[in-house]
Amino acid sequence: MKFFLDTANIEQIKYFADMGLVDGVTTNPSLIAKEGKDFEETIKEITSIVDGPISAEVTATDADSMVKQARELAKIHNNIVVKIPMIKEGVKATNVLSKEEININMTLIFSPVQALLAAKAGAKYVSPFVGRLDDISHVGMELPETIREIFDNYDYDCEIIVASIRNPLHVIEAARMGADIATIPPKVMEQMFKHPLTDIGLEKFMSDWNKTFGN
Ligand code: E4P
Repeated sequence: MKFFLDTANIEQIKYFADMGLVDGVTTNPSLIAKEGKDFEETIKEITSIVDGPISAEVTATDADSMVKQARELAKIHNNIVVKIPMIKEGVKATNVLSKEEININMTLIFSPVQALLAAKAGAKYVSPFVGRLDDISHVGMELPETIREIFDNYDYDCEIIVASIRNPLHVIEAARMGADIATIPPKVMEQMFKHPLTDIGLEKFMSDWNKTFGN
């Protein structure tokens, strides 16, 4: 299973990349805006830290402009994956761009049939948003599970990125269902390390050792 980091924060990307935990990075306009730095420069810097797929999202909403923006983004680095929203114009743009071998991550996927449309249009990745479904009282994780079942029936070259992850349980469920990728916010990545028994266990080992051998 691949872990992507869901952030545009350079320090956090470096921090987790140093542990070998970052197979790729996803950004979106909100995450880029949160950092307040130049979009292209930020994406370029991320590509210099992580050698894997880096998602950069278009901000246009009509197909022609999406295609233009996507071509520019794809020029930044070979690892760029262009994120395109799951709207009709986005599907149209994906159909054009996938034929040019530009990798597309179709984002804002909230239903299995949207994922099927994305795969048919040639998207390399689909991003079902589980947390935002949970937020409106739907069981978010049912979405990637159904998409997994559908994709397994066919031979689409399309990977499932479980997105909008809110807690470590989402990551476990994504792994259990065989999702290809979980894109994880730094805060959740941090939570994934924690277990109180690990801390208590280590404290006891250290104190027993120090009692006998000193520190
Ligand atoms: C990643 O591809 C998505 O943009 C991101 O996971 C959305 O997460 P959010 O619902 O926490 O904003």
